[in-house]
Amino acid sequence: MNPLFELQGFSVAYGAVEAVHSVDLRVDEGEIVTVIGPNGAGKTTLLCAAMGLLPSTGSLTLAGERIARPSVEAMVARGVALVPERRELFGEMPVEDNLLLGGFYRWRTGRRDQRERMEEVFAIFPRLKERRAQLASTLSGGERQMLAIGRALMARPKLLMLDEPSLGLAPLIVREVLHVVSSLRSHGVSVLLVEQNARAALQVADRGYVLETGAVALTGPAQALLHDRRIIDTYLGLGNKNAVAA
Ligand SMILES: Nc1ncnc2c1ncn2[C@@H]1O[C@H](COP(=O)(O)OP(=O)(O)O)[C@@H](O)[C@H]1O
Ligand SMILES: [Mg+2]
Repeated sequence: MNPLFELQGFSVAYGAVEAVHSVDLRVDEGEIVTVIGPNGAGKTTLLCAAMGLLPSTGSLTLAGERIARPSVEAMVARGVALVPERRELFGEMPVEDNLLLGGFYRWRTGRRDQRERMEEVFAIFPRLKERRAQLASTLSGGERQMLAIGRALMARPKLLMLDEPSLGLAPLIVREVLHVVSSLRSHGVSVLLVEQNARAALQVADRGYVLETGAVALTGPAQALLHDRRIIDTYLGLGNKNAVAA
């Protein structure tokens, strides 16, 4: 397996407070990797810094190329897309226009294939096609999440980073959205999936990392983590506040 994306000794601080401590993490080509951990563990901070939205220290490598100063431009140009925790859709715009905005960088750099890309997204999310003319603000929670993912796919990313796509969705919808996420590998997209919903995330991922207070506490194949006593007790046990039925 070729590492597509790799962090080594990756740290992120807010002023004097370090929120992510020396994380080592890898996503291979075609892999779905999840980062699970409780609220406040540093998952969003990690993704935002990996996307170049926050300053970081340590090393970030993409397809073997060391990115000395990660910036959004550098990451987008190298095929990385982020679906942020707040979906940041344009509520007063139709589904179609939200998607077109996701293809803006391709358009600006001379690749005028947005119609084709949109048909690809509609093939993955047929529901969006039915609702192509509907305003984003009138979509259901699940449809909004699909639109946010679809918009990121318009850039034809090699690596898609998702920040808690299950947030606020009913269990059945979570399953539907994550099922689509797991199918993205057949479209040549690798996925870094950040989730508080540990069970749902581990069920679709190949490997997982457990982030606790900014550091990797445990890592391994997703199936092994699903059966790890510590993970079961802390994140998957019934009645646990971090456990969400999937
Ligand atoms: N803009 C910010 N300024 C200062 N501290 C922050 C900021 N955003 C998050 N933090 C802190 O960083 C830690 C990690 O937060 P976050 O990355 O949002 O965790 P998670 O996504 O795992 O819930 C928390 O202690 C949080 O309070
Ligand atoms: Mg978060």
